[in-house]
Amino acid sequence: MPDADDILERKNFYLEVPQTSKAFALKGSNALDWGMKNRLARIFLPDDCRTVMLAVDHGYFQGPTTGLERIDVTICPLIPYADALMITRGALRSTIPPEITKPVVLRSSGGQSILKELSNERIAVDIEDAVRVNASALAVQVYIGGVHEHESIGNLVEIVNAGNRHGIPTMAVTGVGKELARDAKYLGLATRICAELGANFVKTYYCEKGFAAVAAGCPVPLVIAGGKKLPEIDALRMAYRAVSEGAAGVDMGRNIFQCDAPKAMIQAVRAVVHENETPERAYDLYLSLKSAGEGSELCTAKTQLR
Ligand code: 5RP
Repeated sequence: MPDADDILERKNFYLEVPQTSKAFALKGSNALDWGMKNRLARIFLPDDCRTVMLAVDHGYFQGPTTGLERIDVTICPLIPYADALMITRGALRSTIPPEITKPVVLRSSGGQSILKELSNERIAVDIEDAVRVNASALAVQVYIGGVHEHESIGNLVEIVNAGNRHGIPTMAVTGVGKELARDAKYLGLATRICAELGANFVKTYYCEKGFAAVAAGCPVPLVIAGGKKLPEIDALRMAYRAVSEGAAGVDMGRNIFQCDAPKAMIQAVRAVVHENETPERAYDLYLSLKSAGEGSELCTAKTQLR
């Protein structure tokens, strides 16, 4: 039976310690609700507000992409080294063990293939299903200047509205049609439109000239895509420049999973993003991990999954 008389004497309300209320450090996110912030803090590490997301959603429009033929075999071993996994709900349910603790950024638009007009997308996931798979963010493609610009912006707006109802942030992905230049003028336009319409963070491309202005002009965090496979040192240089010029990290796919040693590469990318390591030193790390056999292991030990 509780001792009611003793309650006040034993409790300590730390009367001399004011309750703290720290600003949420992630760019442009301080006014969000608790659930949004909590999910964003799972994706962007609170220590540095940066992330290394592993993008493996390519199959949603290009089928069995090289390196993703067997996600269960090639991607599971990389999950421990990623801060978040960008993936479709189909691949998630069929190939990723539900025991993983890494946040999922759920590909939520689709509806076209490489055989057709790429900008012709629709929303491809119900918000209820995103909740069911415990998504930490929703990803939607936006084709500024594309044939279906208007519809893709509509998809973003609907996803943002649905995400806001459930406290799930939205990542807009700036899809760039073949006919458009990936320069600072275009990327600045596209990323700003996405942020203005409510995206909580934006995936875009790095550009050699003017990227700092693109990042500064976007009021929410930017992460960069890797794009087509590059020599490892070049991919590391791109990541280094991007974070030095204001990106909050990478959402990289082919430049990791198409490497000879993907596990070594994702660790080298981490060194750049989270430790500000130079591309040259990160490349040395890549080579030493690769020669030590990192990157050739398959998904066998249960500890590798988490
Ligand atoms: C398409 C996408 C992807 O499918 C993917 O995430 C791209 O990643 P990467 O360019 O690094 O392979 O977002 O626009």
